[in-house]
Amino acid sequence: MTDELIKLIQVWDGQGVYMKYDKPTDTWFFIALHDPTLGYMAGGCRMKVYPTPADGLRDAMRLGRGMTHKWAAIDFHFGGGKSVIALSHPIEGQEREALLRRFGRMLRSLNGAYVTGVDLGTSPEDMAIVREAGKYVFGGEGHEDPGPFTALGVFSCIETTARHALGRDLNGVSVLIQGVGDVGEPLARMLAEAGAKLILSDLDQARASKLAAELGGSTVDPDKVPDTECDILAPSAVGATLNKDTIPRLRCRAVAGSANNQLEEDADAQRLHERGILYAPDYIVNAGGAMAFALFHEGKLSGEEVNDRIRKIGDSLDRILGEAKERNESPVHAATRRVEQVLGQH
Ligand code: PHE
Repeated sequence: MTDELIKLIQVWDGQGVYMKYDKPTDTWFFIALHDPTLGYMAGGCRMKVYPTPADGLRDAMRLGRGMTHKWAAIDFHFGGGKSVIALSHPIEGQEREALLRRFGRMLRSLNGAYVTGVDLGTSPEDMAIVREAGKYVFGGEGHEDPGPFTALGVFSCIETTARHALGRDLNGVSVLIQGVGDVGEPLARMLAEAGAKLILSDLDQARASKLAAELGGSTVDPDKVPDTECDILAPSAVGATLNKDTIPRLRCRAVAGSANNQLEEDADAQRLHERGILYAPDYIVNAGGAMAFALFHEGKLSGEEVNDRIRKIGDSLDRILGEAKERNESPVHAATRRVEQVLGQH
């Protein structure tokens, strides 16, 4: 186990990892500090059961790197970092509260070099506990949950993607949402409103069925997602769902969703491009939550103004997809150039 952690650290391109073992619950805390070029590092806190601590560290590192790209792509002055609370078994109730408090103390010891917030597996209530113990948490003032803001950005990017890949608006376009949680659910509501045909999937199948019954739409088993025909696939839960096994099976025209790190490896961008599937880079599509938190943190804009800014993410994606089309390349390359340009100016 220790060997695996060391190997991961040896090949990482970030600034450092701050880690701690929580003995009472057999949990690992990992804070992956990726890149402080643009400012102090900010990114959410993911909490879930991982098969091994190394899987948790790997996720933290990949997510931290994703945050560097996300902030740079939207030209916001924060650095990239992310934390993972890697559980060995599910933890609820008072034990969870105490665990979050201990994580908060660890966070506090960084004294603001890294600021966190909600991510997959953590709730606004969890973050309120971390804030009490650890101070450095984005959100608060009634804006604790980034989900609806992320969903709004994803929605505007799905509109842009439909225009590019299908030449039409969302009315009648089939969208498969893989994961109807904190982001996937509000996204489904917006898509239904716009007349899209919904196909919903979730590990919690009852959750997907209930939402499909409410909004109109069908459901599909989680393992059947890659083989299901749809216009746009929207991965909206865990990462690495686009890889060398799933990409050849895909039956969609485009991918645009909220999950972080959708590509398992860099080569997957080319695999999608060669199959003629338009891939909207995840860290642009899902930047709405980060953007909202940053804007509320500055405290200058109203809720409606923040929403307007988020809707413009669709325009940024439009430019990236346009550039990629001109050069006949994966949009990942156009997005990466943008990130490198922003980082290079500082
Ligand atoms: N976890 C979300 C993301 O990955 C929102 C978030 C952004 C939370 C920045 C905290 C800080 O974008």
